[in-house]
Amino acid sequence: MDVKKVFFMSKKIKVAPSLLAADFSNLEKELKKIEKSKADALHLDIMDGHFVPNFSMGPKIVGTVNKLSDIFLDVHLMIYNPYDYVEKFIEQGADMITFHVEATEDIEDTLNYIKKCSKKVGLALNPKTSFSLVERYLELIDVLLIMSVNPGFGGQKFIESTLKKIDLAKKIKDENKLKYEIQVDGGIDDIIGKKCVQKGADFLVAGTYLFSQSDMQKGVEKLKSL
Ligand code: DX5
Ligand code: ZN
Repeated sequence: MDVKKVFFMSKKIKVAPSLLAADFSNLEKELKKIEKSKADALHLDIMDGHFVPNFSMGPKIVGTVNKLSDIFLDVHLMIYNPYDYVEKFIEQGADMITFHVEATEDIEDTLNYIKKCSKKVGLALNPKTSFSLVERYLELIDVLLIMSVNPGFGGQKFIESTLKKIDLAKKIKDENKLKYEIQVDGGIDDIIGKKCVQKGADFLVAGTYLFSQSDMQKGVEKLKSL
């Protein structure tokens, strides 16, 4: 079976290394390391210098990564007007596209467009954003991305109030028998990851933690087994 198709069938905690923390001068080697680690997905952070105060990569890098690797590509758009760019990222091999509830007024259209392209869809919310803003879209999404740092940079400290939001997301999911996965992104290591999983997270993104391991596979296994 195609590796990418196994993605949404696993029962374990899913883990995605964030490419932002990789050594870009050695991209091919880093991708081999990620594949070997048996991570479920590769998280690609796309920043536009407006929605967040930083730039990172664009569709071309996603395309390069897609050529060099078979891993499921989880594209996290931290950009305004995501609808306008969805097609470009899908053309380059994105398997899932997550965009921010704060970044557009066309939330439903953007969600539906990504789904129409037969890709997984995620909706993200920032640490200061009220959960009520995403509530009405929960039945439309595959993944709810709860940001545990203010987006824009890797290597930041996990914001503890995120735990309450994960708890709420899990309660609402269970009460309404919804299917979305709860992804947490920012400042995750094995200790904080465990707290997130205990509250109901099922999908962890980690950059600094996983890339600082001498053996990435062991780090991934540790997070998966939380
Ligand atoms: C932050 C990004 C995160 C980041 C995670 O804007 O969305 O995905 O790369 O990196 P760490 O794990 O280093 O906080
Ligand atoms: Zn991210």
